[in-house]
Amino acid sequence: MSNLLQDTTLQTQPFRYYFKKHPRVFFLGSLSLFITNFLDVLTPLGVKYAIDAVTAKDSTKLILAILIYVGLMTCVALFRFGWRYFFGRFHHTVAEDLRNRIFGKLTELGPSFYQRSPVGQLMSLMTNDVNTFRMAIGPGMLTLLDALFLLGMILPIMIWISWDWTWKTLIFIPFIPFIMKKLEAAIHTRYRKEQDLLAEVSANTQEIVAGVRVIKGFAQEQNQLDAFNRKSREYELACNSVVQVDALFHPSFQSAIILGGVSLLWFGTPDVMKGTVTLGSFVAFHDYVRRMVWPFSAIGLASSMMEQGRASFSRIKDLLSTETDIPDLGDQTIEKFESLELKNLTFRYNGAIEDALTDINLTIHAGETIGIVGPVGAGKTTLLQVATRMYPTSQGSVRINGVNIDRIRRDSLSHFISYVTQDVFLFSDTIAENVALGFSDFPGLEAVEEATNTVNIDQEIRGIPGSYGAYLGERGVNLSGGQKQRLTIARAMIRRSQLVILDDSLSAVDGRTEKAITRALKSNLAANSEDGSTKRTVILVSHRLATLKHADRIVVMNRGRIEAIGTHEELLTMSQTYREMNSMQNMAPPAQTGSHA
Ligand SMILES: Nc1ncnc2c1ncn2[C@@H]1O[C@H](COP(=O)(O)OP(=O)(O)OP(=O)(O)O)[C@@H](O)[C@H]1O
Ligand SMILES: [Mg+2]
Repeated sequence: MSNLLQDTTLQTQPFRYYFKKHPRVFFLGSLSLFITNFLDVLTPLGVKYAIDAVTAKDSTKLILAILIYVGLMTCVALFRFGWRYFFGRFHHTVAEDLRNRIFGKLTELGPSFYQRSPVGQLMSLMTNDVNTFRMAIGPGMLTLLDALFLLGMILPIMIWISWDWTWKTLIFIPFIPFIMKKLEAAIHTRYRKEQDLLAEVSANTQEIVAGVRVIKGFAQEQNQLDAFNRKSREYELACNSVVQVDALFHPSFQSAIILGGVSLLWFGTPDVMKGTVTLGSFVAFHDYVRRMVWPFSAIGLASSMMEQGRASFSRIKDLLSTETDIPDLGDQTIEKFESLELKNLTFRYNGAIEDALTDINLTIHAGETIGIVGPVGAGKTTLLQVATRMYPTSQGSVRINGVNIDRIRRDSLSHFISYVTQDVFLFSDTIAENVALGFSDFPGLEAVEEATNTVNIDQEIRGIPGSYGAYLGERGVNLSGGQKQRLTIARAMIRRSQLVILDDSLSAVDGRTEKAITRALKSNLAANSEDGSTKRTVILVSHRLATLKHADRIVVMNRGRIEAIGTHEELLTMSQTYREMNSMQNMAPPAQTGSHA
């Protein structure tokens, strides 16, 4: 993953990098283009010979001229297919490569990156910027080559027919590249705005669909509709502004042809009348003047496309060269989890003004069930995220089996840890695939059912049309909150991880199910461990003290600090926060202060 931008040629000369990476398709595309142009340029000469043959009433020469013309046109069609085919393959392969690199980088980066990068911007990079670069390296490059080939071929023929006509007709043409470049740049800017607005309109629609219950619950239909109409109107105006510039393209092109044509008529016809140049040459020359407008325009277009491609690539490069704050540089693996040790750990989120964790000291041993409790915002989730290296440690250390967590390979970490996060997220996939998320190969329906059984959801899934094969919409709209939560726990169960972390994952399940789940968590890990008796280590975050009552130890957190650690009974005497929570939850009367030594 980390070699996404290691090739220096890719960083400095992306065009060259890709030409060298796919030389065959690029070479075949260019060759086909060259042959197409060459043959195409000769066709007006075929017409010239035909007309001259007609004027000279020479029928043998006429038939030959027609045959040449037909032959040339057929070959042109064949080779035109060739360059479109090869170039198409070339630039789509490039786009695929870039998309994969970007996606690879996105999976490498940690939560702190996503916190500062708006999703829309990342989506735009993945779609608009990749596409702009693709257009530059494919159609842009092709246009430039096309222009150069044509100029190199047509100009000598024109000069051969008449040097005098050549300069008189072409004198008006060199300004075209500048006009075309300006038009192309304007159209690109407007088009990009149009695309971004379209993305916003789509995102808006998606949000309305996903949040329809909230919208209805707060009677926000009209407000949402008004906001949507405004966005939609903005998009329409952006489309119109693209059309305005687009409409100028053809007239500009045409005016250059008209100028060249008029000039030829003015200066050329007297020569034909005098008989110094044949009528056939005149017709052919007129064709060449018309054909010369394209290469000049093409230079303008291509240079603008290349500039945009470079700008887009530099944005892509910025992302690809973003260093992750949690690089996977470790070389150690953990076979059997023994301990997790947090030592003098202090942590602050980027841009935050206060520490989210202060001087945390905690050691968890294999087989323990640890409860974590504390008011909202106490730092429970932060502690779990730093302990599992979603965020880097800056002060203090996290050690697993005595090894600093930075030195442990990420795949090894994810092998023995299952972390069920506080936010429930289900993918748009089947129920079975969602449960089997941690497996590269589907482990089989039996394993999935065993996992769902332990979280008491098997029967409910069977009641859903489609059962385990039922497709979940975005964020699983067709399941209840508690069902979704249990599915995410089943994900951890099926993996038989040695360390299971549940961040407030039992908040939406009933007491009976909660008991069943905690019992299942406490049972030994039968499979996937060397000795069948390996006990699972469990970290349970909950606001409900009843859930944690049977934990071996409970950690009470408050304002980023560990206030106390102990069993339920010990904490009732030791911790003010715990006592208050306990009396509020009415579990038992508060214990008397000071009764514990
Ligand atoms: N990504 C973040 N960037 C900046 N500050 C954050 C971020 N996430 C959390 N915080 C802050 O860090 C503190 C601890 O948050 P944390 O999510 O760890 O609390 P918690 O104990 O898990 O709360 P809850 O019980 O509501 O889940 C809070 O003050 C919160 O505002
Ligand atoms: Mg939390």
